[in-house]
This record gives sequence, C-alpha cells and structure tokens, in this order.
Amino acid sequence: MKTDADNKKLLLPYFGLGCWQIAGTGWKGAGKDQGAETFATALNEGVTFFDTAPIYGFGLSEKMIGENLSQFRNRIIIATKCGLTFSEGKVGHNLSYDSVLHECEESLKRLKTDYIDLYQIHWPDTGTPLKETVKALERLLQEKVIRHIGICNYPLPELEKISGLIKVETVQYEYNYLQHELADSVMNFVEDKNLHFIAYSPLAQGLLTDNIGSGYSFSKKDVRRLNPLFNNRELFNESLKRKKDLGENTVREALRFIHSKKQIKSVLVGTCSRRHLLETKRIIEGLQKGRR
Ligand SMILES: NC(=O)c1ccc[n+]([C@@H]2O[C@H](COP(=O)([O-])OP(=O)(O)OC[C@H]3O[C@@H](n4cnc5c(N)ncnc54)[C@H](OP(=O)(O)O)[C@@H]3O)[C@@H](O)[C@H]2O)c1
Repeated sequence: MKTDADNKKLLLPYFGLGCWQIAGTGWKGAGKDQGAETFATALNEGVTFFDTAPIYGFGLSEKMIGENLSQFRNRIIIATKCGLTFSEGKVGHNLSYDSVLHECEESLKRLKTDYIDLYQIHWPDTGTPLKETVKALERLLQEKVIRHIGICNYPLPELEKISGLIKVETVQYEYNYLQHELADSVMNFVEDKNLHFIAYSPLAQGLLTDNIGSGYSFSKKDVRRLNPLFNNRELFNESLKRKKDLGENTVREALRFIHSKKQIKSVLVGTCSRRHLLETKRIIEGLQKGRR
C-alpha cells in the first residue's frame, strides 16, 4: 500500500472498504452512527483503502471520512470520484471543466484533506467532450490536489479514447458472480495496458448474502431500486436460484469467485456493519493466504 513520495505509481491493497453504506442513506438497515463505528473499526483494523464519492449520502460519506481521518491520512488511500452531481436531491451527469474543478474542491473540503490519492470518473457524461474533462483533470494533477486517475463504468471505446489522452491507472467496474458483462468486455484492454482493475458490488449489493431472500422488500429510498437484479422480479428470482449454486456460505463463495479472477487486483466490499466488515476482512485474508 501507498503512493510513493515521487507520485510515480499507485499501489493499492487487494481489499478496500466501499464507503457508500457508511453514510446510512439508501441502504436498508443502515444508520449513520453504525457507519461511523464501522469506518473507525476499519481504520483500527488496518484497512488502508477507502472508496467513496460525493453522491454517496449526498456528501455525507466523504464528510464522515473527513471527520475521522486526521492521524491516519498519510497511511491510507482515499479514492473518490467526479461526474455525478447532485442538487436538491436531483442527480445529474456532468464532466465539464468547471464542474470537475468545483466537485474536486468540494470533495477536498468534505474530506478535510489537501489531496486525493485516486480521483475517478464515476460515470460517462455523453454531453461533454472527453478532451474537456481531461483538461480539468490535468490541471488538478498539476496542482497536486489529485495524485492518480481512475475510470469507472466506461464502455471499451470510451475507455480506449480517454486512456490515449491522459494516464489512467485504475478502472472500476461491477463484478460479481451474477453481473460482469461490461467488465468482461474491457478485460483484454485492461490487461494489455496493465491497468489496476477494481471490482465493485462483489456481493451484488447484498443479493449474494443471507440478508436478502424472496420476501425482500424495498423502502422508497433504497438505492437498489436502480439495479436490474432487484427491480426486475423475474431476474431477481432467477438470481436467487443462481445464488444457491454458491453453496452454504454465499459471502465467502462470492468473494472466492472474485479472488479466483487473476485480472482483478482489488475488491471493494460495502458495509455499514462492523460485524460484516470484520467477517469480510477475515474471509479475504483467508483467501489471500490460500486457505479454504
Ligand atoms: N464506481 C461505481 O460506479 C460504483 C458503483 C457501486 C459501488 N461502488 C463502490 O463499491 C462498493 C461496494 O459495492 P456495493 O456497495 O455496490 O455492493 P456490495 O459490496 O456487493 O454489497 C453491499 C451489501 O452487502 C452487505 N454485506 C457486506 N458485507 C457483508 C457480509 N460480510 N455479510 C453479509 N452482508 C454483507 C451490506 O450490508 P450491511 O451494510 O448490512 O453489511 C450491503 O448491503 C461501494 O460501497 C462503493 O464504494 C462503486
């Protein structure tokens, strides 16, 4: 783990805590206090890689990281994102020059830091030319407020284009036992260019855990309403059947599935539960040591 002093290469650990859930909004059963306790536990247990975004809890996830960071700052990697903006609860896609600079400034304030280790484009914005976004990122790199660039969720043609315009070091895609189509389509490019692949939603947003079964119901604010695995009843039921293939301990087997993919260099697991964090960490450490 660690960026080297000369800012040459980003070295990420295998496990990163996904900090969407700690904000306590949009996830069933989540609560801010529980999230803060989970984040503090992660720091104390030696987790060094934290993925967040302005949109997670509409700024709250970044704020909670910022509030608890001080003595750990130079020992951890903070990855945040730009491109998904929000105003009065409305979410938009914006990767224009001014918006990227503004978002970064706001993230720095919320995170209470003067640099972001890994700055990732969250989702494509088809309304902005890639060159314009790249210009903003270059400026932020020059100013040393961001150290490394990552891309999330880009289809292959756009990923190829942007990689030709600026040094991209990481990519982040949904990857789990049930969903990995887009990731598969970029994998050859990722390997050719030696990009660091980060998998998100390894537990299919909870579907591959015991928390979710056929009687699962959503609150109106549950973010999983946007996920076809959850909002398409037929696919949901089919996915629950496929989950059975994983056997008894679906969390462990879902993480083992990810771990077996050698192209995947890091995995983000999101939780607001201290107990789940510790369980996940133990499973991943076991997998890394080659134990069953
Ligand atoms: N770049 C992007 O576009 C993008 C998109 C989505 C996510 N992400 C990142 O990836 C992270 C992880 O992905 P995700 O949040 O979508 O989904 P995920 O990690 O697949 O699933 C999260 C869900 O799994 C549950 N869980 C976690 N560990 C568990 C355990 N040991 N036992 C039982 N349940 C467990 C959590 O519930 P509890 O809270 O109750 O533990 C939570 O509801 C996010 O936090 C975010 O940082 C990035």
